[in-house]
Amino acid sequence: MNRIEGRVKVTGLATYAAEYPAEGLTYAYAVQSHIAKGRVKRVDGGPALEMPGVLAVLSCEDPPRLGENAEGELALFQSREVAYRGQFVAAVVADTYENARAAAAAVRVDYDPDDHDVGLRADHPGLYRPEVVNPNFPSDTGKGDIEAGLALAATTIDVTYETPVLHNNPMEPHAALAYWDEEGRLLVYDTAQGTSPSRDLIARTLGLPREAVRVVSRHVGGGFGCKGSTRPQAILAALAARAVGRPVKIALTRQQMFDVTGYRTPTIQRLRLGADSDGRLTALEHVAYEQSSTLVEFAEQTTTPTRIMYASPALSTAHRLVRLDVATPSWMRAPGECPGMYALESAMDELAYAAGLDPVELRVVNDPRTEPDSGLPFSSRNLVGCLREGAHRFGWQHRDPAPGIRRDGEWLIGTGVAASTYPARRRPSKAVATVRDGDFLVQVAAADIGTGARTVLTRIAASTLGVAPERVHVELGDSDLPDAPVAGGSMGTASWGTAVVRACEELQRDGKEGRADTAEEIDGDAELSRHAFGAQFAEVRVSSVTGEVRVSRLLGVFAAGHIMDAKLARSQFLGGMTMGLGMALMEETLTDEEFGGFLHRDLAQYHVPASADAQGVEAVWLDEQDGELNPMGSKGIGEIGIVGTAAAIGNAVYHATGHRVRELPITPAKIL
Ligand code: MOS
Repeated sequence: MNRIEGRVKVTGLATYAAEYPAEGLTYAYAVQSHIAKGRVKRVDGGPALEMPGVLAVLSCEDPPRLGENAEGELALFQSREVAYRGQFVAAVVADTYENARAAAAAVRVDYDPDDHDVGLRADHPGLYRPEVVNPNFPSDTGKGDIEAGLALAATTIDVTYETPVLHNNPMEPHAALAYWDEEGRLLVYDTAQGTSPSRDLIARTLGLPREAVRVVSRHVGGGFGCKGSTRPQAILAALAARAVGRPVKIALTRQQMFDVTGYRTPTIQRLRLGADSDGRLTALEHVAYEQSSTLVEFAEQTTTPTRIMYASPALSTAHRLVRLDVATPSWMRAPGECPGMYALESAMDELAYAAGLDPVELRVVNDPRTEPDSGLPFSSRNLVGCLREGAHRFGWQHRDPAPGIRRDGEWLIGTGVAASTYPARRRPSKAVATVRDGDFLVQVAAADIGTGARTVLTRIAASTLGVAPERVHVELGDSDLPDAPVAGGSMGTASWGTAVVRACEELQRDGKEGRADTAEEIDGDAELSRHAFGAQFAEVRVSSVTGEVRVSRLLGVFAAGHIMDAKLARSQFLGGMTMGLGMALMEETLTDEEFGGFLHRDLAQYHVPASADAQGVEAVWLDEQDGELNPMGSKGIGEIGIVGTAAAIGNAVYHATGHRVRELPITPAKIL
């Protein structure tokens, strides 16, 4: 199907958070900390208050009242402590955006700075083992004896990889418009990946009952996780609206997004692998070092994919975390799986070379019958099928494994492969389906963040009802609609879709209306391991003159359950793979060790792939019949496309050049 909202989007008629009008609208602009650690001694809003159009200055000098559960980045102006450079320490509200911005620059903030520490190191004395990693996995797991497994191996490797801070960078920057409506409810137009969870978090942060808050996000211009939890702009808009008694709009600049809307933690990952002479793993150990802020513990589950990927009698995974004077890391497309699989799949390639085995065959011989960590059976697992199909389509059988020997003028050419995986889960959701004017109205508070949620839910409802999609109207993006979980974790369609199927089935029985609440049916769900799998193949051309890497071909083959809509699914896979290409070659945010905060703070410095970088990207899939998932038989597809891509490209760069780069991104300086 074509996107239902495609026409309003490309003609500019789709309304985003920053674009809603309101009577008596005012604007807020934040003042950010210049120090990375210390205390705010004094905020002097006097000069700002005398400037044209200024209505209020908010700061810790007169802390706005928040609920007792306000925490982390959302507890705005509650404390004088500065946790990171760029933190919001004050804000100005004025009649225009320009007046607010000019006055924000005139707010005087005096600090009492302390020495800061913003550098992640594998030998950092502050490293500790978190109790659990996101969302609720044990930090460490282990079975068998790693040292014994390495001792009896024919081949061993001990390698360390590094991934940098990465920033999500959706096209639509974070923005919010907030005001109290005639009924005394707080209405927030926000850019959020979920209106129900956003409503709950805003209500809890402000100390309001959830019924007193409504969040609307009809259109969202991308998120990739950085809109997956409420960010400070929504709280600031509400606090400012309460302070001035008028609607307040806040639109973050791209630079401010780098500071306060989250990022992917940098990682240092050490892997030790051993294999026997047939390539069968005898030991697999994966340790990840990563960071959080002093405000909140955010522990990314970086090594969890290693718990499910390959059979090994000795298997050990661990996470170590250090709390630094930095902003809190957050969700970014395939948080955990993406950097974790970059390291594991690079290490598997290194092991294949060390053992003299084909990297596809190495993965095939280590494909497990049951989940290696838990012993649970897989609901379905078709990694081997993806590898075989990809190898066939890519022409892998003609590959000479010798590195650094293929040349086309100045260009060295190489190919690489990596596996991909992502969990297939779902969360409770509600939905309502009603007959309206002979057609069907389906309501669910889902968010369409550019994935095509409206379109696929229309298709799911139409197919359940046995009617043409044109007769189904899906309403979403409003917390006043039936409660729905976030568009995240590749769980949106599975969660909302299940509720939509149940509501439509109920409507068919009732004749007029169907209401669904899937909370009960997903309890007791622990007897199977449910994951999507994939194989990524890359061909690169590396300039021996400049060190530039061009990706000439990128092929992803995925086994992700039943694919409901080919056009939407292909877009998700291609988008994920393109983002993985950016991770491999260009995306990087450097931390400013001297002053705190980040050195890369806009799209001139933080490079993402453009169309010219993403030629020859292709995605296909093997349709799976898996009856152990949800009524659609689907696995999530929003994130698996990015998983493994960077490893496939890095492995291809090694094949092209004979040079192994173990720190992303693979920039020309690291090649030459
Ligand atoms: Mo995505 S990082 O699960 O919003």
